[in-house]
Amino acid sequence: MTDILQHRETGVLTLTFNRLERKNSINVAMYGVLAEAFEQAAGDAQTRAVVIQGHETVFSAGNDIADFLSRPKDQESPAFRFLRAIAACPKPVLAAVCGPAVGVGTTMLLHCDLIYAGDNAAFSMPFVNLGLCPEAASSLLLPRLFGYHRAAEALLLGEPFLAEAALEVGLVNRVVAPAECSALAQAQARKLAAKPLASLMATKQLMKGAQQDVVRCQMDEEGATFARLLTAPAAREAMTAFMEKRKPDFSNL
Ligand code: COA
Repeated sequence: MTDILQHRETGVLTLTFNRLERKNSINVAMYGVLAEAFEQAAGDAQTRAVVIQGHETVFSAGNDIADFLSRPKDQESPAFRFLRAIAACPKPVLAAVCGPAVGVGTTMLLHCDLIYAGDNAAFSMPFVNLGLCPEAASSLLLPRLFGYHRAAEALLLGEPFLAEAALEVGLVNRVVAPAECSALAQAQARKLAAKPLASLMATKQLMKGAQQDVVRCQMDEEGATFARLLTAPAAREAMTAFMEKRKPDFSNL
């Protein structure tokens, strides 16, 4: 069974995380599939909107931590390729988010256009707790969206915030029962897919255009820092501790 399900119907491409036994954490192969899907969606006349979703109980536990330990991440890695592709997607991207959305599970949402959350959604960006730094231009986009102090709370403390808080700060469009979330995203995507594509794309480009270059630069800068921190002792300790199901010890780091 593939870890990313792909389904296209009436102009809507749906990408579903399907790795429940690892809480839909995303490994290198999955990033490759996601990157390819978004790159193709950009130029494929059959795709007019993209929905990204997980399971009713978990959206994604973020990057696969075992992969972090074994596969050094650099600017060319599939993870960064995916982030560049979703950020540059010229067509509407929707997300249905239920349960935990950790790390890239939250930061990828900054590049979605419409986001529907289950009332069990819990967003978190524990990059610092893992000895890392933000990615996906979240260090730029979160302070703009949340205001600096709330962004600092989310990024420095890395603690989860719930669906209602995400609604209040404008990260999500609507909060519904988890069982209704995917259907709502699909219904909204079908509405968009029935609209004139050139107008949709022009509107998205006009809303995002001015910040695209800045976002791309920030992603590159974050990526270089992230790659450096990933091989440093704090990240090794944090990730080994996660795999060994113990608390990390940063006392000498
Ligand atoms: N990478 C690799 N494996 C992961 C993972 C990840 N990001 N997230 C969860 N898993 C694995 C767990 O190690 C566990 O494996 P096991 O069955 O061999 O023990 C299994 O998935 C189930 O996870 P568990 O932690 O028991 O589930 P939970 O429901 O108690 O908690 C989460 C769910 C998502 C809150 C929790 O798993 C978590 O915090 N994961 C790490 C998130 C993270 O730090 N991601 C990186 C962000 S940059």
